[in-house]
Formats: sequence, structure tokens, C-alpha cells
Amino acid sequence: STGTVTLDPGFTNTASCESEITYIDGDAGILRYRGYPIEQLAANCSFLEVAYLLIYGELPDPESLALFTRRIKRHTLLHEDFKSFFTSFPAGGHPMSILQSGIAGMATYYDHTLDPQDPAQLDLATTLLMSKVPTMIAYIAKRATGLPLLYPDASRSYTEDFIRMTFGLPYQMQEIDPTIVNALDKLFILHADHEQNCSTSTVRLVGSSQANVYAAVSSGVGALSGPLHGGANEAVLAMLGQIRDSGVSVQEYVSQVKDKKNSVKLMGFGHRVYKNFDPRAQVVKGLADDILERLGGDNQLFDIAQELADTALSDDYFVERKLYPNVDFYTGIMYSAMGFPSQMFTPLFALGRLPGWIAQYRELVADPAQKIGRPRQVYTGHDERQWVPRIERT
Ligand code: SDX
Repeated sequence: STGTVTLDPGFTNTASCESEITYIDGDAGILRYRGYPIEQLAANCSFLEVAYLLIYGELPDPESLALFTRRIKRHTLLHEDFKSFFTSFPAGGHPMSILQSGIAGMATYYDHTLDPQDPAQLDLATTLLMSKVPTMIAYIAKRATGLPLLYPDASRSYTEDFIRMTFGLPYQMQEIDPTIVNALDKLFILHADHEQNCSTSTVRLVGSSQANVYAAVSSGVGALSGPLHGGANEAVLAMLGQIRDSGVSVQEYVSQVKDKKNSVKLMGFGHRVYKNFDPRAQVVKGLADDILERLGGDNQLFDIAQELADTALSDDYFVERKLYPNVDFYTGIMYSAMGFPSQMFTPLFALGRLPGWIAQYRELVADPAQKIGRPRQVYTGHDERQWVPRIERT
């Protein structure tokens, strides 16, 4: 109405930016899912328990959790045709591209669960996503190695069976190290939701057109794949490896970052919201200490990471810009110690974030006042001008 509209570049106009799901205080380093502090949930809950909390709004009683778990366990198989789907991609294709395609493709297999306005359909789609995405990620990991796929085993816990399908082989006893199961389950909890981050805002924007949940979640996978977002965990390990292999000292690397040489960034550092510390990074660092001690793993990379963090945290350049380790800084080292190849790090982030994306989509489509997201812009192009015949153009 004033004629000149100045928008915050992050303004997406996805209408409903009110949410009851996750609370973040970026200055105080507070993160709560449905009011519960992340530290308490990570210490005391299973990932499925937290997924239930995010999706349905309350921590489940034992019977509700058992039913939720049983429903998920009933649907972990993928349609057999999915196997040819995965092998149709080039062997070196990035797992996030295949995962994004696979989740979008679920809409063609489960076209009886596409209507977000039908509670029964939306609930079944919720279960199918929670059930099948771990199987899908495990199959994608096996596709990359050319090793045989394993069918889901309903007798195992959610995270344990994901690890078994990812690493297990048909002819071997599959005793899964409980250390890895426990640590990965906690990492999934720490990634489960994070308010209106880039990928969740994408899920909401796609969902605001009443697109089905598979289309919305697969769009979130696409947004998450970027190195400034979920792709950072893979980029951190590449950065640490580059420092180790180049022989460049940590101090020299930090100087390159400060000099902004070739737009080098300290991957795993900084955050749009946390301007003091990322509470998740603190929990992950504690887990990393434990995992590396128990499993071994590339302590040299962990030492470089520690030195990088110590150097940056005492350097005015980073302190003035409020740059601290974020959730991605230590997770790659942990995933690597667990045996995951670096291209699988961001799919692991996606699996953790899955219940958050589903919860945010459900909240959006349940809001009767929700309108389609329609970002606006400030036009900075030409004023009106007239067409000229081609012959007159110079
Ligand atoms: C996630 O939003 C979420 O919640 C995301 C997430 C989630 O759970 O969903 O928390 C997950 O995405 C975590 C972030 C993972 N990404 C990275 O680790 C990539 C490296 N970090 C950055 O690129 C950056 O810090 C962002 C993208 C995370 C945040 O960018 P901001 O807040 O928009 O900061 P900016 O780009 O405006 O930079 C401000 C200043 C600039 O310097 P000056 O121009 O003032 O001189 O800080 C500098 C930047 O150059 N800067 C960095 C830096 N991040 C910002 N300098 C070196 N290394 C960095 N990592």
C-alpha cells in the first residue's frame, strides 16, 4: 500500500509461519520439540518415540509406541520394482539424488494415500514414509557397493535394522554393535526437526499447494542436499581430509578462510539462527568422543576438527561474526567411524529429519486458513520499453 515493498530476502510468504512443533532460541542455544528440551529427549528417548512426539504432539504411552512401531514394521518392505528403480541410476550417482527420486516415486506406488485432506490417507502415508525410507536409504547404499540387498527384519529395532540392511550380508551372522545403534538413534533425534530451516520451509511451500506428502518431502530432500544445509556434514569431512592431505596447517587454513580465498568457508561452522552455540553440536561432540573411543575411527580427523574449533573459537574474525560449530561439524566424523561412506552422510541427515518434515507438512495441511505460498519480490529490472524490429537491433 506504501508503493515500495522491501522484503527480507528470506521472506517466503508461506503464510503460516506459526507452528507448535519446535522452539529455538538462537541466542540462548535452546532447542525444544513440542516443549521438551532436546538434551532430555536425546538422553532418554528412542528415535521412534521422538518421531511420534513430533508427528502426534505428545510423548507416546507404552501402548501407543508399541502400536506405532508395529504399524511401521508392517510396511518396511519396498515394492520389488524399486530394485530396478535404484539400478537404473548410474553407479556413482549421489545418494541424495536417488533418494529424492525414490521418495517422489512413492506417490506412484501408493496413490491411495495422496489426499492430505483425508486423515486416513495422510496417516497411512506418514507410516509408509517412516517405514520405507530407511529401507530405501539402505538399498541405495548397497547399490553403490554392488553388495546384495537384505530384506527388513521386523524382529529388530528401527535403527538397528537400518544398520543391518545397510552393512549386513546374507551369509553372515548379523550382530549389530549396540554402540552404533545407540549413537545413531541419538543422532537421528538431534536432527529430527529444526523449525523453519531451508528444507522444512521447502516442504511447507510445496505442501501449501496441496501437493501430496511424497512430493513435499522429496522437495525437502533436494533442499537439504545443498552444502550450505544438510550437505555440510559431507563437506566437513572433505575439508578435514583436504587439510590433512594438503599438509596445510590448521592456522594456515583458518587464514585462508579469513582472507576469503576462493570463497573457502569453515564448513560445519555458522548458523542462520544460533548465534552463540548450537545445542545439538554440544550433544554430538559428547557422542563423538564416546564413539571414537569405542570404535576407533580417524582420530587424526577428529584432532584436526578439534584444533579447527579451538582456533576459530578464539579468533575475533569468527567470534565477531558469531560463528560456532553447528550440528554438522562433528557428525561426519561419527558417521565415518560407524562405517558410512561420506556420500551417505546427508541421507542420514534426511532420515533423521523425516519425522520433522512429516510433522510440519501435517500441521500445514491441517490449518484451514492455510493459503498457497506465494513469495513476492522487489522488481529491479528495466522500466517499460517498446519492442523494436530485429533489423533495427544493434
Ligand atoms: C544446517 O537453518 C537451519 O536450522 C539449518 C540446520 C537444520 O537443522 O536444518 O541447522 C542445518 O544447515 C546447519 C548449517 C550447515 N552449513 C554449514 O556448515 C556451511 C557453512 N556455514 C555457512 O555457509 C553459513 O554459516 C550458513 C549458511 C550456515 C549461515 O549463513 P548466514 O548466517 O547467512 O551467514 P552469512 O552468509 O550472512 O555470513 C555472515 C558473515 C560473512 O562474512 P562478512 O561478509 O560479514 O565478512 O559470516 C561469514 C560470511 O562470509 N561466514 C563464514 C561462515 N559462515 C558465515 N565465514 C567462514 N566460514 C563459515 N562457515
